[in-house]
Amino acid sequence: MAVDATFDLNYLLFICLILLIFSCYCVFCKGKNVSNLPPSCRGWIPWLGCALEFGQSPLNFIENKRKQLGPIFTLYVAGERMTFLTEWDDFPNFFQSSNVDFQKGVQSSVQNVAAVSEKSFFQFHTSLHDIVKGRLASSMLEPISQNLCTEFNEQLNKLGESGSGDLYGLVRESMYKGVINLLFGRHVLPTRTLEEFKEFERHFVVFDEQFEYGARLPPFFIRKWSNSREWLLKLFHSVVKNMEFPKQTEEQTLLQTILQTVDAENSPNFGLLILWASLANAIPITFWTLGFILENQEIYNRLKKDIRTKFHATKQGEYIEITEEVLRSMPYVKCCMLEAIRLRSPGIITRKVIKTFKVKGYTIPEGDRLMVSPYWAHRNPRHFPEPDTFNPDRWLSVDLDKNQFLEGFIAFGGGRYQCPGRQLLSHHNVLLLVALMFMKIFVVSIRYIAFKTMLKPIGVCLGLQNKSKTQMEYA
Ligand code: HEM
Repeated sequence: MAVDATFDLNYLLFICLILLIFSCYCVFCKGKNVSNLPPSCRGWIPWLGCALEFGQSPLNFIENKRKQLGPIFTLYVAGERMTFLTEWDDFPNFFQSSNVDFQKGVQSSVQNVAAVSEKSFFQFHTSLHDIVKGRLASSMLEPISQNLCTEFNEQLNKLGESGSGDLYGLVRESMYKGVINLLFGRHVLPTRTLEEFKEFERHFVVFDEQFEYGARLPPFFIRKWSNSREWLLKLFHSVVKNMEFPKQTEEQTLLQTILQTVDAENSPNFGLLILWASLANAIPITFWTLGFILENQEIYNRLKKDIRTKFHATKQGEYIEITEEVLRSMPYVKCCMLEAIRLRSPGIITRKVIKTFKVKGYTIPEGDRLMVSPYWAHRNPRHFPEPDTFNPDRWLSVDLDKNQFLEGFIAFGGGRYQCPGRQLLSHHNVLLLVALMFMKIFVVSIRYIAFKTMLKPIGVCLGLQNKSKTQMEYA
């Protein structure tokens, strides 16, 4: 028996070795017959290519390669060719071209993180996108913002008159409950008691923080993340099982509409996906908006005056009536938020090349993963003079009522599948919380921010190395 087992193991190792050599060969030969490929970095480790250097500090690595190889270049990373476009003029090839595909670019990650089957993803993705977009369109946002306001108020009122704490934790708790109750139904997810909410929060934080690994690595490498994902999926299974639906479609929550659209087998998985999309970016962006404001005394004073005059009638414990008009009268808060989004946008967004095409004389072959970095695009001085400075005033020239953005701003992606949550966010969500926080708590001091160059394919760079550095005091 023992001999047989050793034989089986050797045989298995031999097969693995052959497969490894074959896949290295395939990756190294990929594109070899195509002429005029962009300059590339193949690294020195077979198959992994430059994965290790890339993984250590992805954003810096991309920028260094751009300087070294030029505006279009390819990285060989873990068996894939990733081709980067870094110039604004080439972005239409990414966002509008029929040679590249959004769904094929993200499908495998979606399958890895939320276990949505390939068939179900391709069948329902477009409807799902359109549902989210429709439900969060500007015209639908007035009642939403009033509800959010009530939810946020409730959270902030619990703070008391003075104290200290972790600003990031405060933003997270206020927004988790507010956004979840709004989009998924009041207390449909565990938001009723503190204990059940804390357990939910703990699992969601792990799921979110290691999302990038979850999208790429087999589950046994990331046990903690896999356990939290299982916990969240189980939660959604029980939510789906017990869900009751109102007769009128207009009364449905976003979650109810989604559940009625997709196949029953994958519906909890889609629920988890939407939960992640709606929280993962909104929270860091709220945090950074507050963080940047608090760091800039002049901006801080200007905003405080503005917000306090608008909301002067409100006392602790009362709910503020937020109307479209009130929000419109505070354009500077919105400028601050857009400027924070500019500086802390997603590291990369991705598409799959489905048909070989040419750009700047280079051939981009079918099968390449095409990449654009909003983070670096927003540091192009042609569009954003003094790009590293937090300067909300640069947004004053834009018609904010019409939800316009500055040229060069691509934080929400673009094309058919541009972020469907951008209206909710840029209109009200963050704006409200920022305003309310200023109302309720006058933040005395904040010490924070060690920015780590994290990479989030469809997520905001949070980049906090040490959460305790977000410590704040208020009175
Ligand atoms: C500052 C905050 C946010 C940023 C920077 C952001 C950014 C993005 C980006 C870059 C994409 C990919 C688009 C592309 O590749 O062209 C995306 C997709 C998405 N976002 Fe956002 N987002 C934010 C907030 C939100 C919010 C608040 C929601 C929901 C309430 C949301 C829901 C989604 C969904 C569902 C997708 C996937 C779209 C699809 O698969 O068709 N996002 N977001």
